[in-house]
Amino acid sequence: MSFRPPKGTDDLIAPRSAGWQVVLATWEDWTRRYGYPLVMTPMFEATDLFERGVGDTTEVVTKQMYTFEDGGGRSLTLRPEGTAPVVRAYLDSGGQGAWKGAYAGPFFRYERPQAGRRRQFFQVGIEYLDVTSPEADAEVIEVGWRFLSDAGVPGLTLLINSLGDPECRPRYVEALRSHLKDRADQLSSDSQRLIDRNPLRVLDSKVDRAAVGEPPKMIDYLCDACASHYESVRSQLDALEVSYKQDDRLVRGLDYYTRTTFEWIGGELNTAQNAVGGGGRYDGLAEMIGGRALPGVGFALGLDRIMLSLGDPEVGHLDAYLVSETGAEEALIVASRLRAAGVAVDFDTEGRSVKAQFKSARKLQAPVILVWKGDGLDVDIQTDDGRQTLPLEEVAEWFTDQV
Ligand code: HAM
Repeated sequence: MSFRPPKGTDDLIAPRSAGWQVVLATWEDWTRRYGYPLVMTPMFEATDLFERGVGDTTEVVTKQMYTFEDGGGRSLTLRPEGTAPVVRAYLDSGGQGAWKGAYAGPFFRYERPQAGRRRQFFQVGIEYLDVTSPEADAEVIEVGWRFLSDAGVPGLTLLINSLGDPECRPRYVEALRSHLKDRADQLSSDSQRLIDRNPLRVLDSKVDRAAVGEPPKMIDYLCDACASHYESVRSQLDALEVSYKQDDRLVRGLDYYTRTTFEWIGGELNTAQNAVGGGGRYDGLAEMIGGRALPGVGFALGLDRIMLSLGDPEVGHLDAYLVSETGAEEALIVASRLRAAGVAVDFDTEGRSVKAQFKSARKLQAPVILVWKGDGLDVDIQTDDGRQTLPLEEVAEWFTDQV
């Protein structure tokens, strides 16, 4: 039997996983500051939710869903994205009024795997529901920006656009359709089919980027309400000192967007997978899935891509490793005391030689080695900067002083 994980999926183990934990802790910190508590929805949903919510002309729905029938004959799909499920959950909860949620977890899309493009990938995201103001959009974008900057993603660019609403978009779609019809013979067969059904999807096509030429711009077609909303979002981003670039061709790959849309591009990622995340407003999504009018705005970021852009850091997960010269039995008690006092410490339960224990300490990248000699209650503390000996009860405090 092969021990490799299924194609397009990855196992994540230490020390790489510890790098992920650092970034996830940063995520929790920023979402907490902005008031987004955890929301968790099932890994699978009724297939219909994504067909109606994400859109049946999107690649996500037509080509990438993991759909199966369960024992009861229901068609279910492993969640390819989190927005439609969160909106469904909020509608089901019977909640009213402004609501916030943050999520982190695996999502599934049947794609051609490559670096940064996986069949199971990990997203972190937020959704802010039942809000319509440009301030809500600006806040959401700011959360993503602060988190990505704090996580240290290099060379970030924020691209933004407005996709208008059901009032102004049809006029734009007509103009775009007629532009694309004039160039249909240069477009791929996939894009040709989309000209009538959903021409916005053609703007999203990577293969047809050049063939599309200079299409009309949505921002030239915005109705007054959408134009002033977009203008406010931009001026608030300016006030928050979040820099951005207008991208007239940014349409995103999912059908539920209205008004503000945005994407973060990472500087160090190659072009096919350079979007570290994206999002926008989706004022019509709840109605698309059969619910009441429920405007919202949010984003999701791809953690696999964020970690790639950070160089996939390998991080130690311990504050210290405890080497015992008197065997495992005493070490168990000493470690327990330190752990109770807040120190992340590990030791060798198997009673191996002192040399083997030092080797484990190095392998686990422990920044500090504590040596328990068993004579009295002293612990020998070894760091790169030198050694010192302290009574056991003072060791935890020594760690606190190090930060
Ligand atoms: P999305 O653009 O489809 O948006 O995905 C967001 C991010 O997830 C992408 O920018 C990328 O970093 C990551 N991602 C997507 N597919 C893969 C993959 N196959 N492998 C690795 N990473 C991937 C959404 O999913 C929307 N739900 C975002 C949103 C939230 N809009 C409003 N609220």
